[in-house]
Amino acid sequence: MVEATTVAELCGFIGTLAVRGAPALGAAGAMGVALAAVRGEDIAAAGAILKATRPTAVNLAWGVDKALSALDPVAEALRLAADDVLRNMAIGRHGAGLIAAGSRVLTHCHTGALACVGWGTALGVIRTAWEAGTDLSVWVDETRPWLQGARLTAWELQMLGIPATLVADVMAGSLMASGDVDLVIVGADRIAANGDVANKIGTYQLAVLCHHHAIPFYVAAPLSTFDPATADGASIEVEERSADEVTSFAGVRIAPLGVAALNRAFDVTPAALVAGYVTEEGVFPSPPLWD
Ligand code: MRU
Repeated sequence: MVEATTVAELCGFIGTLAVRGAPALGAAGAMGVALAAVRGEDIAAAGAILKATRPTAVNLAWGVDKALSALDPVAEALRLAADDVLRNMAIGRHGAGLIAAGSRVLTHCHTGALACVGWGTALGVIRTAWEAGTDLSVWVDETRPWLQGARLTAWELQMLGIPATLVADVMAGSLMASGDVDLVIVGADRIAANGDVANKIGTYQLAVLCHHHAIPFYVAAPLSTFDPATADGASIEVEERSADEVTSFAGVRIAPLGVAALNRAFDVTPAALVAGYVTEEGVFPSPPLWD
C-alpha cells in the first residue's frame, strides 16, 4: 500500500510502477486531479503532469480527462474507481466462456486486481471461469524485465488457489510446440481504432507464436482502453524506460559496464493476430464502437 498526499508523490509512484496497470492508472489519474482540487491547486496543470508520467496506457489520460471535465473531480474519481470493479467483473463474465474445461491458459505481465481497482481484466476472466467451476491451469510468463508475472500474477493466482506454473518468457514457444497451451489471454494499455494492441513488451511475440500454432489469442480490456483517436498501432507512443532495468537485476548489475541496452516497455500486436476483444459489453472479433 502506498499513500500519495501530493500530485508529485503520485507521479513518483506511477513512474516507479508502484501504481501500474492500465485500469489502475485510469483511477489514479482521476484521483490525482481530485487530489489537486482538494489541495486548491491548478487541476489542469496537475492533469498535464500526470498524463506525462506514462504515455502508452490511454487509461491514464482518460481518467485525468474524466475528472477534469467533471463538476466535482472528487466525486468523479470515486465513481470511476467503483465503476472499474464492476466493469472488470463484467469482462470476467463475458470472457469466462472462452475457457473450456481443462484449458491450459497462458498469460503475460499482470492484469489482476492489483493492476485495476479490483478483480482484474485478463486475470479477472481466468478468475471468473475458475470460480464458476471451470477446471483450468495457468502458465505465468515471468515478464522481463520488471517481472510483473513472477511478482504479481503468480501471487494473485496463489491467493485465489488457481493452479499456476511460472515460466521464463522465452519458454512460451516451447510450451506451444509441445501442445501444452490451449489459449492465451492478455490485457492491453491502448487499443487503436484499427484494433492494434499495445501491451507489455513480449506480447507481440506471443501473438505471432499463437498464429503459428493455431492457438487463440485474446485481449481483455475495458472500453476505456480503446482509443478511437489513435488510428493504428504505429501511432501509439511506446514508453521507453531506463536501460538500467535491463542491465541490472534486483539492483545488482548483471551486464558489463558500458554495454548499450534498449528497454521498450510495450510492443504492438497487429489486430489481425487477435481472436477477440473481451470487454464489459461482450466479446468482439474487432474493436467495438464507442459512444
Ligand atoms: O508497465 P506496466 O506494468 O504498467 O504494464 C502493464 C501491462 O502491460 C498490462 O498488461 C496492462 O496495463 C493491462 S493491466 C489490466
